[in-house]
Amino acid sequence: NAELPGRGLKITLTAGPTQEPLDPVRYLSNHSSGKMGFALAQAAAELGAKVHLIAGPVQLSTPPGVQRVDVVTAQEMLESCQQLQAQTDIFIACAAVADYRVESIADQKIKKQPGQQEMLLKLVENPDILATLATSQSSRPFCVGFAAETQAVEDYARRKLEKKNLDAIIANDVSDTRIGFGSDHNQVTFIYREKGEFYQEALPLASKIDLSRQLLLKIFKLYSKQDLT
Ligand code: PMT
Repeated sequence: NAELPGRGLKITLTAGPTQEPLDPVRYLSNHSSGKMGFALAQAAAELGAKVHLIAGPVQLSTPPGVQRVDVVTAQEMLESCQQLQAQTDIFIACAAVADYRVESIADQKIKKQPGQQEMLLKLVENPDILATLATSQSSRPFCVGFAAETQAVEDYARRKLEKKNLDAIIANDVSDTRIGFGSDHNQVTFIYREKGEFYQEALPLASKIDLSRQLLLKIFKLYSKQDLT
């Protein structure tokens, strides 16, 4: 359908948590359900875009028309995103990526030693997937991030937008359990940069699918404007 606003656009999205293994039976992760990222993927496909969804371990079915790649760790997620980078117009990072992983994964299940009352895990930093794509020298896509914050939400989000060299960021307050992680609804502020100035628009509480449609229309508009400059 020629009239669909996403027609001709190639979008890559990340969704869900990452899992960082400690040993063959344990991992570090977080509460992301993948619902927000999957809703964005569904809405983007409905709006006519060609969509690749790089998903961490989640219990969700693939939206119609979406090409899905399942990954487990942050490093695997980065590799999948980089493989698609040259064919990505817009990159949207919705995944809750683990910032750290254990330095070395144990080959065998870690055993509790008799009398052992504490245990230290040495963690090393994971790559920042979004910042890596947003600061790449060649075939840099238009980059949109999410910011999950529990305080000073818009302020921290704006700082992340600058630090990671993004075009826009979607800020959500995850201290409010009605929205954010795991829920079917979200309330976000869309923050973007245009000609060096910051702008922000607070969107009303809505289902993740409705919100996704609204956000994508804003993102497409911004993307098409910057293409002309
Ligand atoms: O999955 P749901 O249950 O529906 O919940 C949705 C959500 C709350 C997970 C989602 O709306 C959200 O806010 N996702 C981003 C969560 C997050 O981890 O934000 P952050 O502030 O740590 O990271 C900022 C941005 O950098 C994000 O776009 C993130 O995807 C990206 N990032 C972070 C670290 C890293 N190593 N690589 C990244 O790409």
